Amino acid sequence: MSFEQLPDGLGIGVPAPRLSWVLPIGAPAQDAYEIETVRAGHVHRTGRTSGADQVLVPWPGQPLTSREQATVRVRTWAPKEEQPSSWSEPSRVEAGLLDAADWVAVPVGGAWAEDPDSDRRPSRVRKDFAVTAPVERARLHVTAHGLYEAEINGRRVGDDILAPGWTVYPQRLRYRTYDVTDHLRPGTNTVGAWLGDGWYRGRFGFDGGTRNIYGDDLSLVAQLEITHTDGSTTVVATDGTWSAAPGPILTSGLYEGETFDARLEDLNWSTPERTGSEPWTAVSIGARDPHTLVAPQGPAVRCTQEIAPVTVTRTADGRHLLDFGQNLVGRLRVTVDGPPGTRITMRHAEVLQGGELATGPLREAHATDVLVLAGDGPRTWEPRFTLHGFRHAEITGWPGELADGAVTARVYHTDMRRTGWFECSDPLVNRLHENVVWSMRGNFVDIPTDCPQRDERLGWTGDIQVFAPTASYLYDCAGMLDSWLTDVGIEQLPDGTVPWYVPVIPGNDIWTPIRPGAAWGDVAALTPWVLYQRFGDLDLLRRHYPTGRAWVDLVERLAGPTRLWDTGFQLGDWLDPIAPPEDPAAGRTDRHLVATAHFARSARYLAWSARELGEDDDARRYAALADEVAAAFRDRYVLPSGRMTSDSPTAYCLAIAFDLLDDPAARARAGDRLAALVLRDDARIATGFVGTPLICDALTETGHLDVAYRLLTQTECPSWLYTVTQGATTVWERWDSLRPDGTLNPGGMTSFNHYALGAVADWLHRTVGGIAPAAPGYRALTFRPRPGGGITWADTRHETPYGTAALSWKLTADGMTARITVPPGCHGTVDLPGRAPFTLGPGEHVVDSAEPRNAPGPVALAATTHPRP
Ligand code: BGC
Repeated sequence: MSFEQLPDGLGIGVPAPRLSWVLPIGAPAQDAYEIETVRAGHVHRTGRTSGADQVLVPWPGQPLTSREQATVRVRTWAPKEEQPSSWSEPSRVEAGLLDAADWVAVPVGGAWAEDPDSDRRPSRVRKDFAVTAPVERARLHVTAHGLYEAEINGRRVGDDILAPGWTVYPQRLRYRTYDVTDHLRPGTNTVGAWLGDGWYRGRFGFDGGTRNIYGDDLSLVAQLEITHTDGSTTVVATDGTWSAAPGPILTSGLYEGETFDARLEDLNWSTPERTGSEPWTAVSIGARDPHTLVAPQGPAVRCTQEIAPVTVTRTADGRHLLDFGQNLVGRLRVTVDGPPGTRITMRHAEVLQGGELATGPLREAHATDVLVLAGDGPRTWEPRFTLHGFRHAEITGWPGELADGAVTARVYHTDMRRTGWFECSDPLVNRLHENVVWSMRGNFVDIPTDCPQRDERLGWTGDIQVFAPTASYLYDCAGMLDSWLTDVGIEQLPDGTVPWYVPVIPGNDIWTPIRPGAAWGDVAALTPWVLYQRFGDLDLLRRHYPTGRAWVDLVERLAGPTRLWDTGFQLGDWLDPIAPPEDPAAGRTDRHLVATAHFARSARYLAWSARELGEDDDARRYAALADEVAAAFRDRYVLPSGRMTSDSPTAYCLAIAFDLLDDPAARARAGDRLAALVLRDDARIATGFVGTPLICDALTETGHLDVAYRLLTQTECPSWLYTVTQGATTVWERWDSLRPDGTLNPGGMTSFNHYALGAVADWLHRTVGGIAPAAPGYRALTFRPRPGGGITWADTRHETPYGTAALSWKLTADGMTARITVPPGCHGTVDLPGRAPFTLGPGEHVVDSAEPRNAPGPVALAATTHPRP
């Protein structure tokens, strides 16, 4: 069983956590279930409960109290079965500190004077304490103003990094609960933590950034709670009795990198036997309203993979250049020995230019780590409070030979469960899909960022809005995005304006003060619906509904009675390839056409959301509004000839994919025009952030599947596969971040790791692979592969909330044969080319169709981008 959208139940912040379970593959449907909870030795069973619910089922019985533990298990009945299944393995859940009154800890940090406008030396805090009775269990509840890495008796606590992550700290600061029972010993113990500036007070943002965005203190908030076997407890909480000292980290910043002087290191600093000479002094006490302390809703950021360099070359002046063969997000771990004072400098970049690191695209993110050796033998080190986006690294000052295994790149991101895979017969398309996966990994680092390498790394709303469908297939990102959407709601302005990026930080006058922008702001209404469709979490939809409604109400006011949002600043189809490098918003599609289309779409999604939530008045109101905006859109932007006022691919994509045209003939005409425009460009891509996620669906839904495949398999610039042929291992921000002549795009924004243009993967999953949700949470599915582009087989699999859904097909002389897995308790509509659709129940099936190969046909079942309720 799982609890809420969390990987495990330790330190849960929800008193009545919802339960989910998956029936084993091949298991028939579920007719009833029974849940057993054991709390403080008391066994409670619900009895046989009729129903097929198994995803986010309400907690049975009384809510948990703070720190309360329970083990939970479930058994189910199949239809017409008298006997229940065996019980599931027991799952443990333990509440965190559910009440502000549970907290006695206060923020503590170094009390020495610091220049707030400088790179400040990170500190450590520590406290000795006695364990005077046998321990039954011990929990460390901890967070920080800044970033922390805790240790007890010299042993690290947990394996996550960049904790507590980034939220809107004044309103919401996450703490994490760790089981530290095994860290303790009888007698004197020590608890301590490394601290780093992070997002709280580190320099963050572009154009030089801003320091101290949330405060200038660097403080730990920690509460160690020890329960002894006799039931008594000992609490060691951060207070005035703690001490602080500068540590061996001289400087550290998310953009800058980290400098560590091992000569200043006391390996015993977090043990009672500390030996170092550094002056531990009394801490200063900070302020934190415990009502703002919340438990996480998603996984932590962890190392998920290690990669060895593919090549190590030596430059004439003795530097080492390492190519890891994969553009990744993480940092180097080195094992090295050398004389005291040896200074090893590690620089990072995504691409080389002229055989050297191309650091220009990093802008003011120096991404440089420095290790000064102590000469006390081989040392393994990696920075603590920074991350880099890189494929290449340059190391200067390495003593002697750089042996195999001495340098490893460690990949870090939010440790979400992988839930989606795709492969097909075209190796270039497979590489493209891999690049999308890597860009998601690289930019899902506690929040969804635009890019991981330069002096940005912000939670741009538009990027995740277009990428959310793809993300929801590839990884179980519900908890992480639910948390981030909570911050979107917090940062929303009283008038309903949704920021360009969340959390909000000072930006230049384009971004501050915040102005409402289409496609970016529409994350508020569109993304909760997508997550509901993909994960079936109605509570998530309910919690974020007010944010979406306030946004649509704002746009309604801005549009006025015309129902056209045709005034004000807009980004339009950002990074349309025709836009000049220095003006990415200068695309070929009217920005207000883009805005009004999104107005209609958000009103429509809000109507659907309201209906699902039982807000029937709202459902009627927003459905009518969506109809009116769509009508206004047609009157203003669609000419009698069917041509659009912006005769651009993105304009037709919006009209088709957002369902703004009122009759099939108009849709078909728009599809024909779109196909003609694409073929006129010889199927080179002509869309930006807005049109790109929609174009393949728009072509597929209007009978131009072949043109969609022409786009997909194009390798000339601009196109998805052009980047692959240029050696891309992630998705680029620009279609030509690297130009055909091998030079970098001169534009000020040239990232090689942006997931937005990778949103095409959702079409790969649903149309090339063939799996799409047909009901929230994939309770019902559509298996509708549509081959083309010379692709002769494809495999895709998704771990839905109900279990595994899979489809692998290959073309045969007579048509297509397919192996299909339908999750237990679900049913699938199978629509193979040339064969009438039919339904399949749970289990594994082999089916085929007599349809002649590659004959794109009109869309029978209209499996649209997002299933209409
Ligand atoms: C970011 C994008 C973002 C865009 C909006 C860029 O700087 O990298 O991801 O969507 O700005 O203008």
